[in-house]
Amino acid sequence: MTATAIFTGRNLWRIFFTVTSLAIALVSMRFLALGMATAFPNMLHHIRAEIPLFYVHVVTGPLALVLAPLQFSKKIRAKMPAVHRWIGRTYCLCVLAGGIAGLVMAVNSTEGFFAQSGFFILAVLWLSMTGLALTKARQRKFVEHRKWMIRSVAMTFGAVTLRIELPILMVAGTSFEVAYSIVAWSSWALNLAVVEYYFRRSSPRVSVPA
Ligand code: HEM
Repeated sequence: MTATAIFTGRNLWRIFFTVTSLAIALVSMRFLALGMATAFPNMLHHIRAEIPLFYVHVVTGPLALVLAPLQFSKKIRAKMPAVHRWIGRTYCLCVLAGGIAGLVMAVNSTEGFFAQSGFFILAVLWLSMTGLALTKARQRKFVEHRKWMIRSVAMTFGAVTLRIELPILMVAGTSFEVAYSIVAWSSWALNLAVVEYYFRRSSPRVSVPA
């Protein structure tokens, strides 16, 4: 494959998705080197109130981000289907644990109702879309499985979008409190809109005979 073929269209999206997912997962794992309180100074209320759940969330969230890009590899799906299944099961377990922790953390967020409700709905969508994706795989409805898994990954990728949007809004002059409330919604709503637009564009058009 030539360099221009690698850096075009769908590949460019895939490279962006993989690199940013891995980068944010790595940055989120900083607590392994720094300790919880130094790594997450703004999350001390969670660390004090629900320490096991907070741990679960900051381990399973980044792990889901690392695993998600692997699931889009055609090579793994075609040549090592068992690997695809095991990565998929691990991803679903990460979402289950990280999503339940996310629900509790959303309720206990100190950033106000708007941020709380945005994160809460994200957690509900994350759990339900992943659950539906798993159900469709078990029913061997693979077209629908793929669609629900892409939606689930769009929610996982909200962790990346949030960390891109927040500094942009703040550099543009928005206060942290307002920016945080905005990204609690926009981080996942934007991803979902992009994914639904992609489904619409790529679905075969039925031509009506004149
Ligand atoms: C998609 C569903 C998710 C939900 C509903 C969710 C929810 C939350 C909530 C409510 C908080 C605390 C915010 C506050 O108190 O203001 C939080 C913090 C955090 N989440 Fe998630 N989260 C999700 C996914 C992820 C993913 C995929 C990662 C992977 C990187 C992640 C990593 C973190 C980290 C590291 C923190 C600590 C604060 C920070 O560094 O920004 N979360 N999450």
